[in-house]
Amino acid sequence: MTSKIKVAQIGVGYWGPALLRNLTSNPRCEVSIVADLSEERRDFVRNSFPATSVVDDPKYIFEDPEIKAVVIATPAATHFDLASRALKAGKHILVEKPMATCVKDVQRLGQLAQERNLTAMVGHTFIYHPAVHYLRDIINLGELGQVRYVYSQRLNLGRIRSDCDVLWNLAPHDISIVQFLLGDPVPLSVHKTGMDYVQRGIDDVVFVNITYPNRVLANFHLSWLDPNRTRSLTVVGSEKMAVYDDTKPNKIAIYDKGIDRLHTPGSNMDYDRPTFSLRSGKVYEPTISSEEPLAIEVSHFLDCVEYGIECWTGPEHAAKVVKILSDCDDSAPNTQAKGARLETGASQIPIEVWK
Ligand SMILES: NC(=O)c1ccc[n+]([C@@H]2O[C@H](COP(=O)([O-])OP(=O)(O)OC[C@H]3O[C@@H](n4cnc5c(N)ncnc54)[C@H](O)[C@@H]3O)[C@@H](O)[C@H]2O)c1
Repeated sequence: MTSKIKVAQIGVGYWGPALLRNLTSNPRCEVSIVADLSEERRDFVRNSFPATSVVDDPKYIFEDPEIKAVVIATPAATHFDLASRALKAGKHILVEKPMATCVKDVQRLGQLAQERNLTAMVGHTFIYHPAVHYLRDIINLGELGQVRYVYSQRLNLGRIRSDCDVLWNLAPHDISIVQFLLGDPVPLSVHKTGMDYVQRGIDDVVFVNITYPNRVLANFHLSWLDPNRTRSLTVVGSEKMAVYDDTKPNKIAIYDKGIDRLHTPGSNMDYDRPTFSLRSGKVYEPTISSEEPLAIEVSHFLDCVEYGIECWTGPEHAAKVVKILSDCDDSAPNTQAKGARLETGASQIPIEVWK
C-alpha cells in the first residue's frame, strides 16, 4: 500500500474549514498540521479534527521534513510570503485565490516552483466545477455558435471584508471562469468602475468591462451590498445562449434563442435589406455531476503532487487573472480603493460606516 501524502494547512478562518474537510476526507492524504494565528480558530481545529496537530506559527510546517504539500487559506496579502517560504522549504503549494497581489509575485512563485520541480496551484475553485467544464465543452463543440458576450453577477448582502475589496475578493472567480471558457485570451481592454459605500477605501460594488479579441465582450457585476444572493453567468452565442446559475439545482440552461437574419426579396426585388426573425426555441437543462468542486480541486492537487501532472490552475493561469485584476485597478487610478494591497492585519481595523 502506498503511503499517504502528508499535507499541512495554513489558515482556517471562513474558507479554510471547507478545504480542511475535503483534505481530511480524501483517502490519499493526511493532514498532519494546521497553523492559524487565532486561538479561537486553533480551538475549532482541535475540537473538529482531533487527529491533526495545531500550531500558531507556520514555521513549524516549513521545518517539518515529513510535510510534502501546504495548503494556504489566509488573506491575500499574506499569500506571497507564506507561499514562497513553503516553496523554499521544498513543499508543493495550493494557495487560495488570488495567488498573490501582483503579477511579479505570481511569476516569482512560478519560478521558485519550477526551479524545485514543485507544483504551485491557485484555488480557482470554479475551474474545478463540473458546470463550468460542461459550458467550456459545449462552447468548444460550437453548440452556442460564436461567443458574442458573457456577463456575470456575483452579489450578496455581505460577507464584508476589510483585507481586500470586492474586486479582489470575488472577481478572481469570474475572471478565471471566463478565461477558461474562452481559452485564456489576452484582453484588448479592461475597465472597472467601483465605489466604497461601507468602508472608506474598500470598494463594495464594482462593475468590470473587458473587451477580448474577436469582438467578445465580458461584464462582471460584483457586490457585497445587494438585497439578493445571485451567482449567475450568461453566455450569449450566435446560435444559442447558456445561463449558469449556481444557486439552482439544475445549474445550466441552454436556450435555443437568437436573432436570425432573413433575406426575403422585397416587391422591388431589393435583396439588400435583411429582415430579422426572433428565434425562441426550447430550453434544455443538462444533467451536471453534483461532485463537490473543492473535492475535485483537492484531488487534482494531489495528482499534481504525486504524478507531477500539469496543473489546470498553475502560475501562468494565475498570473493572467492577477494581471486583469491589476489592470482593473490601473483603469481607475483616481478612486480611493486599495484593492488587495491592504496591509496584513488590516482585518483587525474597526469598520467605518459611512453615513
Ligand atoms: N475559493 C473560494 O470560493 C473562496 C471563498 C472564500 C475565501 N477564499 C479565499 O480564502 C482565503 C482566506 O479567506 P477567508 O475568508 O477564510 O479569510 P479569514 O480572514 O476568514 O481567515 C483567514 C485565517 O487565516 C489566519 N491567518 C492569517 N494570517 C496568518 C498567518 N500568517 N499564519 C497563520 N494563520 C494566518 C487568520 O487567523 C484566519 O483564521 C482568501 O485568499 C480568500 O480569497 C476562497
